[in-house]
Amino acid sequence: MKEVDFSDVQGMARFGFSHLAECHYLLLRVRNPDAAREWLAAAPVTTAAARKPPPANALQVAFTCAGLRALGVGEEVMAGFSAEFLAGMAGDASRSRRLGDLGENAPENWYWGAPGYRLDALVILMTSHEELAAWKRTVCSGRWEDGFEVLETLTTSDLDGREPFGFIDGISQPVIDWDRRRNVAKDQLDYSNVVSLGELLLGYPNEYGKYTDRPLIDPPAGGASVLHAAEEVPGKRDLGKNGTYLVFRTLEQDVTGFWSFLRHATGSPEAAIRLAEKMVGRTYDKGAPLAPESANAIEGVEAKAGGPENQFTYDADPRGTGCPIAAHIRRANPRNADLAGRPEGLLARVWNLLGGGPKGFQVDVIASTRFHRILRRGREYGQTVAPALAMTGQGVPEPRGLHFICLNANISRQFEFVQNAWIMSGKFSGLPDESDPLLGPVGNQFSMPRQSQCPVRITGLPRFVTVRGGAYLFLPGLRALRYIARAASTVSSQS
Ligand code: HEM
Repeated sequence: MKEVDFSDVQGMARFGFSHLAECHYLLLRVRNPDAAREWLAAAPVTTAAARKPPPANALQVAFTCAGLRALGVGEEVMAGFSAEFLAGMAGDASRSRRLGDLGENAPENWYWGAPGYRLDALVILMTSHEELAAWKRTVCSGRWEDGFEVLETLTTSDLDGREPFGFIDGISQPVIDWDRRRNVAKDQLDYSNVVSLGELLLGYPNEYGKYTDRPLIDPPAGGASVLHAAEEVPGKRDLGKNGTYLVFRTLEQDVTGFWSFLRHATGSPEAAIRLAEKMVGRTYDKGAPLAPESANAIEGVEAKAGGPENQFTYDADPRGTGCPIAAHIRRANPRNADLAGRPEGLLARVWNLLGGGPKGFQVDVIASTRFHRILRRGREYGQTVAPALAMTGQGVPEPRGLHFICLNANISRQFEFVQNAWIMSGKFSGLPDESDPLLGPVGNQFSMPRQSQCPVRITGLPRFVTVRGGAYLFLPGLRALRYIARAASTVSSQS
């Protein structure tokens, strides 16, 4: 099996670059396609090849479908991209409803990415505080000025690994099978934190053992010979190979509103922290999972990948008395909830498949998680407010939140499914009328099951997170970037 060519993959697919504390997102519109392509051809895009020491700065480039069109990528090629990418995040009312982008979250209210806002490209600059000005000068040179209009520069802040509510962020990530050893044909009933490479990058088999659709081009059309051959159709060139889709959402967090509501609802600062932990599903101080010790439920080296804080399932907590079923991390990745209390042994499994197994109300309500994993790469913005201060209703009233970014090969099956069927769903895992307690709509409720007692239910949660912008982008491989940079010659040779 061929090894992955890391020099053809943009670095953020493999690394979080957390050592680069400064990160700016430049939202761009193509002003002059020739100049933009010329800039792209020379852009020092950072690859996923391992470097020691790690790079002192990084550049990543992604495009919306409007951007690819503006750069001259032909319609016959565009047709190979996924329907979600082509429609865009704010593309239609049905998508907005499914994503929970209604009311104040509706795209019409976004300050970037609203309908009619033509975003073409996203340039991500990462570096140190000291190097920021110099790195920006280096990147934004050559034909940059002629090529692009900068619509917005979204800055980020380094909150020391915590998101603005104060919880440690970025703990749980899927482990990508870069070595391509995963055999998806074997029994996959046990939860594993490892997912096939094709769940992240286009051009490789995914968790179904299949290749996700992407544009395949007949060579030598439009300079396609620069691209890798498609693995499953060697006669065609693969524009998607080593690329991925980048989902970007600016999520503003009302930190004062969050902590003062919890303080009011519980009566004491300590109880407010405990309630917040239940809502997230991890402890405030250390980010430890609330699910009771169930590390032994995960067997095998593969399943243990991802660090000790991820070596747990919800096996030992089927009712959610430790980590509530509605908690953010349980909704965002229900782990093994598909088969709570998994039967052991072949006969027991067959019996269970035939409907004879144990039945909890969670069983079979949730699809297997391995088809719905996302790699999170977002960064925070705005300054932190300590919970104790926020509980008093004080704190500098500036916008703060998360520039949420996730990478996935299939936006609909991965990001949209997680957002719609798990995070926003009012019927998730048999729960009555509840959404994610952090991200849900106004009037949301949140219940916390207890041992041998009725659940405690918090009602009337206000909105703590508001969507302020968003887009679906394509983060191409390096060869694909070269192809896009040459699209000009394609256009002129075809016309
Ligand atoms: C402002 C909004 C958000 C906040 C404050 C937030 C906060 C957190 C925190 C504190 C964690 C636990 C630590 C960790 O594992 O990283 C977490 C985990 C996670 N979040 Fe979010 N999150 C937000 C939005 C989202 C969205 C929109 C999604 C997906 C659509 C998402 C998906 C996830 C996933 C997949 C995990 C890991 C769950 C696991 O594997 O255990 N989050 N988030």
